[in-house]
Amino acid sequence: MRRVAKKLFLKTYGCQMNVYDSERMAEALGGQGYETTDRAEDADMILLNTCHIREKAAEKVYSELGRFKHLKAEKPDLKIGVAGCVAQAEGAEIMRRQPLVDLVVGPQSYHRLPQLEAKVQKGERAVETEFPEEDKFDHLAARPKAKRGPTAFLTVQEGCDKFCAFCVVPYTRGAEVSRPAERIVAEARDLVERGVREITLLGQNVNAYHGGEGGLAGLIWTLAKIDGLERIRFTTSHPNDMDDPLIEAHGTCDKLMPYLHLPVQSGSDKILKAMNRKHTAEAYLRIIERLREARPDILLSGDFIVGFPGETEADFADTMSLVGAVGYGQSYSFKYSPRPGTPAAEREDVTEDAKNDRLQRLQALLVAQQRAAQDAMVGREVRVLFEKPGRLEGQMGGKSEYLHAVHVHAPDAERGQIARVRVTGSAANSLAGELV
Ligand code: 5AD
Ligand code: SF4
Repeated sequence: MRRVAKKLFLKTYGCQMNVYDSERMAEALGGQGYETTDRAEDADMILLNTCHIREKAAEKVYSELGRFKHLKAEKPDLKIGVAGCVAQAEGAEIMRRQPLVDLVVGPQSYHRLPQLEAKVQKGERAVETEFPEEDKFDHLAARPKAKRGPTAFLTVQEGCDKFCAFCVVPYTRGAEVSRPAERIVAEARDLVERGVREITLLGQNVNAYHGGEGGLAGLIWTLAKIDGLERIRFTTSHPNDMDDPLIEAHGTCDKLMPYLHLPVQSGSDKILKAMNRKHTAEAYLRIIERLREARPDILLSGDFIVGFPGETEADFADTMSLVGAVGYGQSYSFKYSPRPGTPAAEREDVTEDAKNDRLQRLQALLVAQQRAAQDAMVGREVRVLFEKPGRLEGQMGGKSEYLHAVHVHAPDAERGQIARVRVTGSAANSLAGELV
């Protein structure tokens, strides 16, 4: 008799690392007979893979959990778990506040999911938020050989030792750890065999990677030798780890895409210092200049925080002028929110009104820059990696080298194909183009 698969509903919040982690969790539970479902009502297990980076994250998790109450009432065998960074930060507290939860697992322990699942099946509750000695990647089930889409994430480094004064990551993800290069290369080869053409290397501090010779640049050059792997990206980087070989690789490695996410957070030296960023605005601008010397068309993306404790109008004006000087093609900006346990949480907060006002002004500038960068593509030829059919008949959608979404009429095109495309139009969030 065929065993009926149990169903797993997995909801992912936050960064791309969580997307990667969720895939690995689904695989780990696949070994226990679980298949994923996108309907919580059908699930035998619900897992929330949470993010703790900004405000109200934990509250969102509690309210989401509350919504599952009726499901558990209808189906008493339903198991509910919380994973990710909120799990790491609040483990026991979640168990205390929300009796519905059977399982709490931190980001460094999800390779133990099979044992934890067995435990909750016996009716016990399980909390696992240690930073174990063993490498979770070694203990994860090998990925099943199923076909994959053309793009994939691959975690190469985790954790952070930088301790920016606002950030919970060093506490939730722990110290910086790099995976050995051989393992990454093996995983990349496997992904390529399964149809992947573009890999984005992930790490909280990806350019601090030191798991093989030559750091991240060395790893990129090794990966570039894999036949069939056409594109390499990486995220997220810290300015202080943009070393010479990495800047150079942007100019010389064809497979490394001309796009870089390089957060600066603020343009004021006083605030950068208070944030413990350990670089000045000038040093950041110099890196941008060198990147553009290496690769003039590189598209830059950034993260910004407004209203960090102590930020004055003059400090904010410095951020606006840095943004003006760089010209970002993409960006993410946030109001500072005090995170419990971080040094800045103890400092006096800027008023909510000032934060709102500054965020609005900054975003107006960033959106205008983003739009200008996108509009400047019109008339140019780009290469698009086709990912999925578009909404219109015969249309295909994918990303350009610069990570712009592009839609093209290409009835004969296949997913995974890279096509030369002339950009013909620029809309709110995507470009239109035609095959060359
Ligand atoms: N408040 C606001 N934004 C934050 N970020 C990280 N911590 C905070 C915080 N406490 C932002 C930073 C970081 C991005 C991932 O999230 O800009 O680069
Ligand atoms: Fe957080 Fe700073 Fe580390 Fe980035 S570099 S993860 S912002 S502490």
